[in-house]
Amino acid sequence: ATQISSELTRVLYTNDQIQARLADIAAEIDEEYRDKDLLLVGVLNGAVMVMADLSRHLTVHLQMDWMAISSYGSGTQSSGVVRILKDLTTDIEGRHVLVVEDIIDTGLTLAYLIQNLHSRKPASLKIMTMFRKPEALSSPVEVSHVGFDLPNEFVVGYGLDYAGRYRNLVDVATLAPHVYS
Ligand code: PRP
Ligand code: MN
Ligand code: MG
Repeated sequence: ATQISSELTRVLYTNDQIQARLADIAAEIDEEYRDKDLLLVGVLNGAVMVMADLSRHLTVHLQMDWMAISSYGSGTQSSGVVRILKDLTTDIEGRHVLVVEDIIDTGLTLAYLIQNLHSRKPASLKIMTMFRKPEALSSPVEVSHVGFDLPNEFVVGYGLDYAGRYRNLVDVATLAPHVYS
């Protein structure tokens, strides 16, 4: 197989920068949920890395659950069709839920997810995302915690994939056009 590094153009955020930002966000979340019973909901597959790292920066009691939801398939464009591939195992009624995402691009995934989770009557429902693309700024979905804003380029790493690959890259980098064009 080809070395991943030869298919990247430049690193946008190093893992050190990501961890430092996560430590700051975790301090805020620790404060917010000090006396609350926190349930982190990770959105598979992309949020695996941020869930693992954010949760280990937190010091409040928490539980984790996962939803698998997909809108992109194997392409680079959102299809706009959101599907639940795996539902939560937890009943979230009355729970303080914080959704953990790797990236908000068009906002379609979260718009659907938040509407869906809201109907289950959680005590509170907030969103944390590691990255956000420009288009997400015009989405009506309110986000409580954002790691970094990204330029409108195709990025991979730290959970972000292209055709299922590159998620294991510890940094976030731009994908070389020859890979996807
Ligand atoms: C990606 C990403 C977010 C979503 C953001 O997931 O992880 O969940 O797209 O895009 P949007 O704001 O335009 O909806 P994807 O559907 O590719 O599944 P994955 O997490 O398994 O990669
Ligand atoms: Mn995802
Ligand atoms: Mg994806």
